[in-house]
Amino acid sequence: RSAGIIGAPFSKGQSRGGVECGPDRIRAAGLLDRLQQLGCAVKDYGNLTFEDIAVDEPVRGSKNVRAVGSANQRLSEAVQAVKKDGHTAVMLGGDHSLAIGSIHGHTAAVGPLSVVWVDAHADVNTPLTSYTGNLHGQPMSYLLYELQSKVPVLPNFSWMKPCLSSQDLVYIGLRDVDPAEHYILKLLGVKVFCMSQVDQLGVARVMEETCDYLWNRAKKPIHLSYDIDAIDPLITPATGTPVVGGLTYREGLYITEHLCQTGLLSAVDLVEVNPLRGRTEDHVHSTVSTAVDLLLGCFGRLREGNHLPNYSLP
Ligand code: ARG
Ligand code: MN
Ligand code: MN
Ligand code: MN
Repeated sequence: RSAGIIGAPFSKGQSRGGVECGPDRIRAAGLLDRLQQLGCAVKDYGNLTFEDIAVDEPVRGSKNVRAVGSANQRLSEAVQAVKKDGHTAVMLGGDHSLAIGSIHGHTAAVGPLSVVWVDAHADVNTPLTSYTGNLHGQPMSYLLYELQSKVPVLPNFSWMKPCLSSQDLVYIGLRDVDPAEHYILKLLGVKVFCMSQVDQLGVARVMEETCDYLWNRAKKPIHLSYDIDAIDPLITPATGTPVVGGLTYREGLYITEHLCQTGLLSAVDLVEVNPLRGRTEDHVHSTVSTAVDLLLGCFGRLREGNHLPNYSLP
């Protein structure tokens, strides 16, 4: 196992400053050391830098479209490089519009994927259905083949094409879905484990059914796109769009442990950690340390304890 870490300090997919500080805060909480203590090789590719775009007028109500398009093009290339070096790609956001470049680049490098999207939100608005005009609420609409005819090509988006089938996607944790998004999910028959299903089935059964569903087609590399707002804001309040009634810490972690254990996890996004949105330093700390724990879960950390294969008793 090895992790290739990309920092993506990008915030223009939404309007709240601070989410660009996510990558450095997550590193400062000891992510790299703690991955290495697990016996995981780590290469830090550093933070991406993004093109400054002077004039970026809204396009059909959607904001910062050119900046988002350009940032995701860079991210896509970076993810491709990490995959070609043979690592599991870890993208530290940044806001969730970055899933466009991350999933696009991952697909370009390894071929068709299964995507597990853990989030309070579906992020499947099109530019024409979005109430907010924020691109972090839209990434899935650009990625899905089935929505291509409903999504206009935006400036700085001509480098990308849809690369994901709606049958290769599972959502977990949804509880704040806009009407148009709900319509799209039903129209396409997307597999969703919303919070009610997590309550009904329990997280263990949700994960079994997630894998059964995805593998029914073929076992493909898994892309986990983890929005920290999937977790209950009592635990992870430092995020831009918190929604009550989320996953517990334990449920959130179980998802990562189960996916790690499949051996198919090939890339992970950890997005929407916004240190400026915590009211106290404790709130920020709890959010950031939960993000680190989720990533460790993706790389084999077990709650029962771990030891290196070459461990010997003194
Ligand atoms: N559905 C809302 C919107 O379209 C909220 C999206 C929140 N997305 C997120 N990645 N936190 O703007
Ligand atoms: Mn969200
Ligand atoms: Mn399974
Ligand atoms: Mn999201």
